[in-house]
Amino acid sequence: MRLPDYKEARTRDKREYKRVEFSFEESIKGKYKGKTFFLKTYGCQMNEHDSENIEALLVELGFSKVDDYEKADLVLLNTCSIRENAHNKAFGMLGRLKHLKSERSDLLVGLCGCMAQEASVVDEILKKYKFVNFVFGTHNMYQLPEIIDKAIVENKQQIEVYSREGDLIEGLPVVRANNYKAYVNIIYGCNKFCTYCIVPYTRGSERSRAKEDILKEVDQLISEGYKEITLLGQNVNAYGKDLYEDYTLGNLLEEIAMKDIPRVRFMTSHPWDFTDSMIEVIGKYKNIMPSVHLPVQSGSSRILKLMGRRYTKESYLELFNKIKETVPGVSISTDIIVGFPGETEEDFLETLDLAEQCKYDNAFTFVFSAREGTPAARLKDDTPQEEKEMRLQRLNEVVNKYFLENNKKLEGKVLPVLLEGTSEKKDMYFGYSDTNKLINFVTNKEHKIGEIVNVKITSSKTWSLDGEEVE
Ligand code: 5AD
Ligand code: SF4
Repeated sequence: MRLPDYKEARTRDKREYKRVEFSFEESIKGKYKGKTFFLKTYGCQMNEHDSENIEALLVELGFSKVDDYEKADLVLLNTCSIRENAHNKAFGMLGRLKHLKSERSDLLVGLCGCMAQEASVVDEILKKYKFVNFVFGTHNMYQLPEIIDKAIVENKQQIEVYSREGDLIEGLPVVRANNYKAYVNIIYGCNKFCTYCIVPYTRGSERSRAKEDILKEVDQLISEGYKEITLLGQNVNAYGKDLYEDYTLGNLLEEIAMKDIPRVRFMTSHPWDFTDSMIEVIGKYKNIMPSVHLPVQSGSSRILKLMGRRYTKESYLELFNKIKETVPGVSISTDIIVGFPGETEEDFLETLDLAEQCKYDNAFTFVFSAREGTPAARLKDDTPQEEKEMRLQRLNEVVNKYFLENNKKLEGKVLPVLLEGTSEKKDMYFGYSDTNKLINFVTNKEHKIGEIVNVKITSSKTWSLDGEEVE
């Protein structure tokens, strides 16, 4: 048994890590043929992509996927720690599984992902959720086959969580959720330690994948007919810093953009690591989508300092404007936290003012959630929760106003849309534009999912646009 430890997770010494090619233990390949699994994923795109690897590992073990957890032999929860409600959802599901297991003692239950990295969660599982068969962490996901096999063979709870990242594993199998849009990890972990955030503890230090490995994966995806690639990382703009003297996200984006791939996206960007040369590359290539996710978190320089964000309201706005000026037609989205400990009405008004100035195309807004073990969780916080909820509402009113206003400006314009599917009534297609807007459209042509078609926008709503196909 190996338990998580935050102290160890926090260390950032210069430890060399090796690149290791994954290999599947031959003796257990296909061993569980005939058994089924249900995999539930919580949280961000990183977790979604991890689940694509997890699914492939389970398939190699012999399991096949089912969509109803009550019919599965194995239920695995790939969890998220970012806010308390993500925790609550996973624990709620564990409660339902406890009930199910009381009727079906042969049911296997596992938990992995970010919550597995938290000592308090594992502690609770050891004490109150003894029926959970196995837990493994984000750093040892590649050991899934052996851990599950051991849990079954020994019929004993397995808890295997590495607190620190080990080697960088390449060549994990993958079952992609989509045939035309793919995620590609470029950097793991985060070194920023924003004071409210649990990610540096659950995902470890920044480790870039070698550019050769990334480019090989991209080539493979192109040969398989993928149309859109999203480069993933907690902070993609730090790409290469730990690995190369002089090779950045800008260089990587440029190399990928020169390939035959219609759409390249990247997320998430930290404003601190955004350089002018990166902005120029994004503006220069037509196949790098003009869509940047640039979390601001707060409009108050005082709160930004307490958050450890390394920029001020003014320097953020300068970067924001530079991106707007350099990248034609760019849409910028953001993340904002209200109710950080000590946030006053005055601080909050600075956030509203920033939202008014930036007129974001999209914004994910949250009430601060204290995460155990992070510095912000120890700060004095005397703002009542109802006041925080009110601030969230007030902020949402402002950001929503601009979503609609920006969408209205697109009426009459022709946008390229990557087709994702048909509406429930099957009389409309839907897909996403280059700037990542959801578009529903009518056409008299037959199309296949994954095609890129030109759509003239006929009307706009807050969250989507309607249109019709044009030549
Ligand atoms: N409370 C509320 N929101 C948080 N986020 C990260 N940590 C917290 C927290 N403790 C938000 C940030 C981040 C997004 C992924 O989640 O806005 O950008
Ligand atoms: Fe968390 Fe900050 Fe790292 Fe983003 S940059 S993952 S908010 S610590």
